[in-house]
Amino acid sequence: MHLCSIAFSSLLIVQGLSLVAAQRSWEEAYSLARPLIDQMSLEQKVNMTTGMGWTITPCVGNSHPITNPDFPSMCYQDSPLGVRMAHNVTAWPAGITAAATFDRRILNLRGVGMAQEFREKGVHVQLGPAINFMRTPQGGRGFESFGEDPFLTGACASETVIGIQSQGVIATAKHFILNDQELNRNTASSNVDDRTLHEIYLWPFARAVESGCAGVMCAYNLVNGSHACEDKHTLSLLKNELGFQGFVTSDWWATHSTVESANHGMDVDMPGNDMNQDDPYSSSFWGRNLTKAVKNGSVDETRVTDMALRVAAAYFKMKQDTGIIPETKLNSFDLTKVDDSVNVKTPQHTRLARAIAAAGTVLLANDGILPLTRHDTSLSIIGSDAFMSPLLNDPEKCSDFGCDPATLIQGWGSGTVTFADPIIAPYQGLKERAGSHVKFETARDNWDLDAVAKTAAASDIAIVFANADSGEEYLTVDGNKGDRNNLTLWNNGDAIITTTANNNKNTIVVIHSVGAVTMPWIDHPNIKAVVWANLPGEQSGHALADVMFGDINPSGRLPYTIAKKAEDYGAVIGTGSNIDYTEKLLLGYRWFDEHKIDPLFPFGHGLSYTTFLYNDLEVHTHRASEVVSVSVHVTNVGHFDGHEVVQLYLDFPDNAGEPPKVLRGFDKIYIRAGMNRKVHFDLTKTELSIWDTDSQQWVIPSGTFRVMIGASSRDIRAVRSFRM
Ligand SMILES: *[C@@H]1O[C@H](CO)[C@@H](O)[C@H](O)[C@H]1NC(C)=O
Ligand SMILES: *[C@@H]1O[C@H](CO)[C@@H](O)[C@H](O)[C@H]1NC(C)=O
Ligand SMILES: *[C@@H]1O[C@H](CO)[C@@H](O)[C@H](O)[C@H]1NC(C)=O
Ligand SMILES: *[C@@H]1O[C@H](CO)[C@@H](O)[C@H](O)[C@H]1NC(C)=O
Ligand SMILES: *[C@@H]1O[C@H](CO)[C@@H](O)[C@H](O)[C@H]1NC(C)=O
Ligand SMILES: *[C@@H]1O[C@H](CO)[C@@H](O)[C@H](O)[C@H]1NC(C)=O
Repeated sequence: MHLCSIAFSSLLIVQGLSLVAAQRSWEEAYSLARPLIDQMSLEQKVNMTTGMGWTITPCVGNSHPITNPDFPSMCYQDSPLGVRMAHNVTAWPAGITAAATFDRRILNLRGVGMAQEFREKGVHVQLGPAINFMRTPQGGRGFESFGEDPFLTGACASETVIGIQSQGVIATAKHFILNDQELNRNTASSNVDDRTLHEIYLWPFARAVESGCAGVMCAYNLVNGSHACEDKHTLSLLKNELGFQGFVTSDWWATHSTVESANHGMDVDMPGNDMNQDDPYSSSFWGRNLTKAVKNGSVDETRVTDMALRVAAAYFKMKQDTGIIPETKLNSFDLTKVDDSVNVKTPQHTRLARAIAAAGTVLLANDGILPLTRHDTSLSIIGSDAFMSPLLNDPEKCSDFGCDPATLIQGWGSGTVTFADPIIAPYQGLKERAGSHVKFETARDNWDLDAVAKTAAASDIAIVFANADSGEEYLTVDGNKGDRNNLTLWNNGDAIITTTANNNKNTIVVIHSVGAVTMPWIDHPNIKAVVWANLPGEQSGHALADVMFGDINPSGRLPYTIAKKAEDYGAVIGTGSNIDYTEKLLLGYRWFDEHKIDPLFPFGHGLSYTTFLYNDLEVHTHRASEVVSVSVHVTNVGHFDGHEVVQLYLDFPDNAGEPPKVLRGFDKIYIRAGMNRKVHFDLTKTELSIWDTDSQQWVIPSGTFRVMIGASSRDIRAVRSFRM
């Protein structure tokens, strides 16, 4: 059976996406920025780097416009998954879904698609990607980022940044740094040792910087006792060790000082409330206070010049001086006054959003019931998560998606798209695809278990939906203040799944979730498949139907570990004023490996409708260039065309002090049924090194390494050793 190749269809999508001319180098950008900034007074430079205040400008943040010399008010807008607070935009799949694609091309295209919408709405700076970690599955904003592994997160960061900036929009890698939970996010200090900081938490920022990222946002939390936006040590790592040449903007109200934040490396204060004294958030550390600090000698004017230079350089690097960013068409704080004449949502974007969601859908378990066939003549669709509700489009009752009455397409908070209209719910998508010969029964009240039982029994196949939600701490949903209180499904989810399975021998479970959940029903003999649909964005139902009916062979992989029980994870939400990252390098699957704990579904896991075999693993070391090349043959021995995600894990020499295995390569390849392909990896100094705290550099440890090629972190198919 020949299935649609995502790689092929995304080529068509690319043709539909207009690309902006290549950006400038940092060198060129600085050479244009310098003469401009040289003409500016101290007050002008301060204005350029201070926001105009909250709720009084079109965007969530705007810098002051400068005249003579002229520099525009730059528009900073949320979010990492699309344009927030606007109409006629795409609600793209969340970061965690993009990560689950394990597909660099798709990650890049998602960045392209999002940034086209930002640009056409007149946004200079997209406040994304989020590249924090799912250190605990409960972390409220984990869904905005890319999971539990630094290598995967780094690749996602890099591709997203490149995609966004290819459109002339400045990407903002955030939140710098160690911002991995919501509880006490403004008051607690995240504490981690130097090696772990480098090998895990700094890693994706390094990849973003290498990819030309022009913006970084410093975080709410403290680091080793000092506020992230004035933390000398980590901001200096960013600018000096990583060589970041763009600007650091504060998270909104994450500035806590005038002198320290300026002297320690912050470059932009947002939203900057000094001109809006009536505002409740009126902590106005920059603006006139920054000018005062220069005048009284506590901040050197060269530092302010450097701030303005960095902002201008980012602007010139993206060629925003050539008129590619139109006048802003947003009105973030009064959506009734939004200029809707610009509908930036194109049919290509809708197709791309659907393709990403399908590619990010993980088939966790399947005894052969999927894909659905034309012989399935009746389907029961059970659970509120399968359906749309008008509440989801209600800005009063479900502000920033802080509600969970229906299907879940994104978490809640500022990392969302406000009006995801229209959302294609699973029921709608499945019904459209199934055709008129299929009879549907539905039950959407999760507390009416009698109706669930009756509906489940009424069809050949019962598909039961459940979800788990989380978000940002300024909203509390069902008692969850951002972080999740537990890892169970929401809205009576476990009960409707068990009830359905008790009443239908062909039960399929579909879950939309921000992260791992426990599955007490997983061994129920009537549960024949589990589909992990992540947070698919507005094209949810279409993407799900593509996968469930076999139009697209599932190829998503878990970007985090799903444990058998919540206590199995190596870290918990810190409740005190110090959050000590005591698990060190043993984040996620590394903890499970080290402590020999069996997960329910391991990191990197995901099934296909076909079967792939691996053979001929070869490893060649090129000592002079410090490169190890690895190749392996992969054969599709099943009956469906499809994508395989080939994963490369390294086992470092014993004395290196590394976890049993760490991801250091992955490639998603398309192979037609019966065909094979050779997959090639180059392990460079980046992949082969560990952070040596004594010498403060990356070093390749000497000794015997093992390359492990697998289909997941717990499904290693071939192993070879090499020595360095
Ligand atoms: C800086 O911004 C403030 C507030 O908008 C304005 O009053 C002032 O004139 C600006 N200063 C300069 C030098 O542009
Ligand atoms: C925190 O302090 C410890 C001890 O001084 C140091 O090793 C570590 O690098 C610091 N971590 C961060 C994130 O600054
Ligand atoms: C300067 O900062 C202080 C807080 O440190 C604030 O109370 C004051 O309003 C600020 N001044 C101006 C002019 O914004
Ligand atoms: C200088 O001015 C800044 C801003 O108002 C203030 O925070 C700082 O304490 C002052 N420093 C001195 C030495 O006066
Ligand atoms: C969206 O764009 C269309 C034109 O394409 C327009 O008719 C509509 O009013 C806009 N706004 C909303 C909220 O849909
Ligand atoms: C876990 O939290 C969800 C969401 O608040 C709730 O629906 C569920 O009942 C909770 N589970 C337990 C076991 O308390």
